Amino acid sequence: MSQPLVVGIIGLGTVGSAVASLLVRNQGVIKARAGREIVLKKAIVRDVSKAQAKLAELGIALSVSTRIEDLLEDAEIDVVIELMGGIDLAYDIAQKVLRANKAFVTANKAMLAYHRYDIQPLAKDLAIGFEASVCGGIPIIRVLKDGLSANHIVGIRGILNGTSNYILTQMLQHQQSFSDALKDAQALGYAESDPTLDISGGDAGHKLLILASLAYGINALPEEILIEGIEGITPDDMEFANEFGYVIKLLGIAKKTDSCIELRVHPAMISKNAMIAKVDGVMNGISVIGDCVGESMYYGAGAGGEATASSVISDLISFAQGKNSVMLGFKQPIESENTQSFTLKSIDDIYSRYYIRLYAHDKPGVLGQISQILGNHNISIKAFLQKETADKRIAKLLFSTHHNYEREIKDALNELEKLDFVTQKPYKIRIEDELENL
Ligand SMILES: NC(=O)c1ccc[n+]([C@@H]2O[C@H](COP(=O)([O-])OP(=O)(O)OC[C@H]3O[C@@H](n4cnc5c(N)ncnc54)[C@H](OP(=O)(O)O)[C@@H]3O)[C@@H](O)[C@H]2O)c1
Repeated sequence: MSQPLVVGIIGLGTVGSAVASLLVRNQGVIKARAGREIVLKKAIVRDVSKAQAKLAELGIALSVSTRIEDLLEDAEIDVVIELMGGIDLAYDIAQKVLRANKAFVTANKAMLAYHRYDIQPLAKDLAIGFEASVCGGIPIIRVLKDGLSANHIVGIRGILNGTSNYILTQMLQHQQSFSDALKDAQALGYAESDPTLDISGGDAGHKLLILASLAYGINALPEEILIEGIEGITPDDMEFANEFGYVIKLLGIAKKTDSCIELRVHPAMISKNAMIAKVDGVMNGISVIGDCVGESMYYGAGAGGEATASSVISDLISFAQGKNSVMLGFKQPIESENTQSFTLKSIDDIYSRYYIRLYAHDKPGVLGQISQILGNHNISIKAFLQKETADKRIAKLLFSTHHNYEREIKDALNELEKLDFVTQKPYKIRIEDELENL
């Protein structure tokens, strides 16, 4: 009879309590697949009485304390699961767990976005699982680590944050303003009371960096990549997108061009016909393009207690089976046959089509001056819409451009903003036409 895999957990919140319940509810199937029992022995939280009340409600008997040492010093515990969140303390705990010779599982994308390459060498032969860190219940880590491991990854495009996808879907399908859609998301429990990390693109950025490490072995930090959120999007932008056959999605994009990797998170106009354009509401979707397999698409719940617990427990089952593959899935630099590793593409060198929104005094000569400035920066207009605003003296000017470098658009918009007839800071959204061909 095999020894059980003994587990300790830090955090009994949304995900932690779901892990505790699922280990009991699905214990038969988990044991059958793991080949041995998985036993949750102890939990660490800040507020013991709150945790005990929750465990009583769930009908689970579990020892709870506030001392992380209770897990680290327990020789019976094989694996520690970190489900508390945060960056610095979680990183400190990851190091302590691995130094205590225990395997480590985490759903903490923020900590991994900063420290995945720091904790990897500490693992030595210990297993580290992080399936739950990207898109909750979608097993995308295994896809990149195992399923598509024969491929050069040409590109990844993902809707990686359910909260922002819900808000954008409400704005498009129900003509809500950004602030009303955010309020709805909060009322339904899809958005935190402080939703900053979701709507600013920060959370999607953390997940993109983890995926890019698996696909390309690139070690970038959130501050080094382009991350823009959805806060500035208005119904006007939605209307323009709709009129020209697009939807607006917050996309995480990773792609390889020569020896450069482009990593960016921002709202993008994409064709209504693209598969990923159909990922609506709180759901997540990821499209991966491999050189052998072509495009494959993964869709599902990106968050929620049980969906995320499903991924956490899949890591435990894999450990119980004796699998402890190297954390990021590679033992030497990716693409090492070319003896080159990838560098991060500069934000200024991003090459894209753009949508531009301007508000300007409606008077003769205005359009001419705007086109002159755009032309001076090598920008040519592909489509144009002019609409009245409630204030008849001000016109809304909506353009889409042909392809340009990011620096050309940035310089042109800076110049336009200074014109005395431009009444608001110009706003841009990148147009990802390439998706049509996927
Ligand atoms: N929620 C999701 O759908 C989801 C999806 C994917 C990934 N994740 C990730 O999973 C992790 C957990 O998320 P969650 O939503 O479950 O969080 P949560 O509901 O806020 O729960 C956090 C838990 O951690 C405990 N905790 C916090 N700080 C602690 C500390 N210093 N020492 C001991 N315990 C501490 C809390 O204990 P007290 O209650 O006693 O304070 C609570 O039990 C995060 O990294 C998150 O990004 C969550």
